[in-house]
Amino acid sequence: MARFIDELKRTHMCGDMREQHISDEVVLFGWVQNRRDHGGCIFIDLRDRTGIVQLVFDPSINGEAFSLADSSRSEWVVGIRGAVRDRGEQRNPRLATGAIEVVVREAVVFNRSETPPFLIEDDIDTHEDKRLEHRYLDLRRPALQRAILARHNLMATTREHFRREQFVEVETPYLLKYTPGGARNFLVPSRHQPGSFYALAESPQLFKQLLMVAGYDRYYQIVKCFRDEDLRIDRQPEFTQIDVEMSFVNEDDIFGTIEGLLTRLFADVLEIDLKQKYPAGAFPRMTFEESMRRFGNDKPDIRFGLEHTDLTGLVIEHGGGGIPFFKPIADKFATGSYRRDLPEEIVKALVIPASANLSRADGEKLEKYVRGMGAGGLARAKLGEGGAWTQSPLAKSVDDAFRQAVNEATGAQPGDVICFQSGEAHKVHTVMANLRVHIAKKLGLIPEHGSGDKWELLWIVDPPLFERGEDDDSWVAAHHPFTRPHDACLPLLEADPGKVLCHRYDLVLNGFEIAGGSIRLHDPDVQARVFTALGISDQEAKEKFGFLLEALRYGAPPHGGIAMGMDRLAMLLTESENIRDVIAFPKTQRGSDQMTGAPSPVDVEQLV
Ligand code: AMO
Repeated sequence: MARFIDELKRTHMCGDMREQHISDEVVLFGWVQNRRDHGGCIFIDLRDRTGIVQLVFDPSINGEAFSLADSSRSEWVVGIRGAVRDRGEQRNPRLATGAIEVVVREAVVFNRSETPPFLIEDDIDTHEDKRLEHRYLDLRRPALQRAILARHNLMATTREHFRREQFVEVETPYLLKYTPGGARNFLVPSRHQPGSFYALAESPQLFKQLLMVAGYDRYYQIVKCFRDEDLRIDRQPEFTQIDVEMSFVNEDDIFGTIEGLLTRLFADVLEIDLKQKYPAGAFPRMTFEESMRRFGNDKPDIRFGLEHTDLTGLVIEHGGGGIPFFKPIADKFATGSYRRDLPEEIVKALVIPASANLSRADGEKLEKYVRGMGAGGLARAKLGEGGAWTQSPLAKSVDDAFRQAVNEATGAQPGDVICFQSGEAHKVHTVMANLRVHIAKKLGLIPEHGSGDKWELLWIVDPPLFERGEDDDSWVAAHHPFTRPHDACLPLLEADPGKVLCHRYDLVLNGFEIAGGSIRLHDPDVQARVFTALGISDQEAKEKFGFLLEALRYGAPPHGGIAMGMDRLAMLLTESENIRDVIAFPKTQRGSDQMTGAPSPVDVEQLV
């Protein structure tokens, strides 16, 4: 057999071999998955990215090929020519190619391999750092190959979809002018202008808006973004967005575009018809306010209940209801110093159903869990017959009327345990939102990722335009200052900025934010009022966004957009545990590349 690749022509991929190929002569290339010696014949599982096929080396057919097989080791790269035959009784139903095997006539070893530091198969318990250090080997494992190919399919279908919908893909720059605020940027020194730096793009936001001013009407880009943030299971410092901007549109048009894309992606990648779940094609919507109230965050996992009940109103009405740590909020209200916007204080409850059989020890564990998030504790009471509170220090002091009101508001039944949290709203929300998911996991209420139709998509809409700055007196843009406020809220821009709602939206899938965007401000007058509310002077606005503000004065169409996290979407659709599993060469939790050693120190001269 020819020794050189240019004299061989591969006829098939390993994983594609089926019964229909029986009796064909084939040429296959791949890696030795394993080798077994069976009564005179050697069997090799040959692997390429499509799968595995069994090869048989019989010394009576070709002694030289047999010796090659005999000496070969895992991960050697080989080529064979052979005939496909039926495995008859020996079929392996667990293998897609299990009906056949290839009887080798000729074989060539293209390259040997050192013994790999871990087995090239799924379900190995090798530490991830080790796998990342040898990522090229890790990427040979079937689970990673499936994830990377699924990602490829997502990208290919996305491009096809947008092309069909007459979107234009335009590349925008990565090397940008640094502007303070927003996510932390990575900085790149300029050689031509020593002492000056570029910032790596955290998103193409301003440029896609400029493309609308330039008349491109429907833009999209599959684009890398760079953010120097703390990493989590769904965050990487460089990640990919499916970035979209459209002119002459409202929220419904943007939603329709993304709903159409996701319906295609689900169909193509998961073979799931979202139309069965959402017959009209539209995904459900929930206001930001409702999401915070019921779930404590703006990315609720609605595959299970355990909803929160906001008791703030009841606590105020009942003057604290006899519970010592509720009293300060009620007192503040009584003295008129309670302000919902400064840092707002609230009381929330969450009911753990009787079916959970929560023991005292379980309750203590939950308390420890919330303390780990900075909460002072987790007050709780078990409901006895007739609605009495039991097994709780609260039972002694609680006023009857308040107790009954709480039982009614939460819908708690005998045997259920009510958990309480009070204090600054953002803390209470965070603790209770995490507690909700934690309990759901413990109780097995979260369905296996993609089981059945358990994919829950939800638009979160109408959030506030501003949030309080660190000093409690100023306002900062909750997203970015180019988001359009609701028309009905315009008078509040000056009167009560905290109450201004805006046309921003996020798309949530099973508790993960997979996309976010907004309808933009294209009206210079309203823009000026938003800057004033934010305390941004003309000078500062000019310095930060001068080019965009100027562009908006040259006939900017009404426009809006959205960006979907490609990696997050791929992670969820492939049911991967971590975003790293759908990125070929990801960074670790500490932002480093185990293989190349990035980041690494540089000489000071390279910085200026
Ligand atoms: P936003 O910042 O919400 O919006 O980002 C859009 C989506 O990108 C994904 N994402 C990330 N994925 C992985 N790692 C990260 N560090 C990371 N950060 C964000 C999320 C998120 O929903 N310019 C606006 C979009 C717009 O207004 O049009 C933007 O970037 O899935």
